[in-house]
Amino acid sequence: MLNTRGVSYGIDAPGVIRNLFIAAAATIILPLIFPMVKIGAVIIDITWLMWMGLYLSLGGALMLVYSLVGKFKHRERMLNMIAWRGDEQVLDIGTGKGLLMIGAAKKLTTGKATGIDIWNEKDLTGNNIENAFKNAAIEGVKDKIEIRNENAMNMSFTDNSFDVILSNLCLHNISDKEGRFAACKEISRVLKRGGTGVIADFMHTKEYKRNFDKLGMQTTVCPVSYFSTFYFPPLRMLVTRKA
Ligand SMILES: C[S@@+](CC[C@H](N)C(=O)[O-])C[C@H]1O[C@@H](n2cnc3c(N)ncnc32)[C@H](O)[C@@H]1O
Repeated sequence: MLNTRGVSYGIDAPGVIRNLFIAAAATIILPLIFPMVKIGAVIIDITWLMWMGLYLSLGGALMLVYSLVGKFKHRERMLNMIAWRGDEQVLDIGTGKGLLMIGAAKKLTTGKATGIDIWNEKDLTGNNIENAFKNAAIEGVKDKIEIRNENAMNMSFTDNSFDVILSNLCLHNISDKEGRFAACKEISRVLKRGGTGVIADFMHTKEYKRNFDKLGMQTTVCPVSYFSTFYFPPLRMLVTRKA
């Protein structure tokens, strides 16, 4: 989706949204054509499947609402967890098309926002480094940003490099616990003493908290808004500090 200036931050998990709508269509259309199914001597009423279809399409629609509207509100929630001075070195892990990196860059005067990603195409529509640079240029922050192709589990930055680390909907994409621990370890390594990390995700957040606890970080888990129309799936935020 493009806004009037041509900025696009993409649709998250497009494959999941497509599959929800396909499954919804199937579970609504099938009972309309065959409301009763005969198996041997038994006749089963399958019209209840239509409720499941409505539930699935609601899930798909809410995920679209997050991508089109909610992610901008969510970005502000995350950025508001920081008392900005303007001179911060900021890292956005899994920046995608630059949502958090660009939002942070707008808070900076002398500081710099760095975005890293490996640009998985399935995680976000139009997910590539060129689109992240393009968005930064249109948003007027290209002089305050740097973008690198780096994996969250193995970053090239030296220890204690960043005042602020942000990461939204990235770490759950790492499929194994060990990998997610490695990413948390990298976050605690490259964060400066006294620095703050704000990590948001829809799953594994208790595990991230346990990881950060093990790594000696001070972490608080923010309450989830389960009933918000804008944040679906419900997103949990963690604020982690390096003492
Ligand atoms: C759902 S997108 C979210 C993008 C962005 N944070 C946002 O909120 O718009 C998840 C991003 O995490 C990236 N990602 C997944 N695994 C990663 C890893 N191991 N290291 C760095 N980035 C990763 C994907 O390529 C994708 O850009």
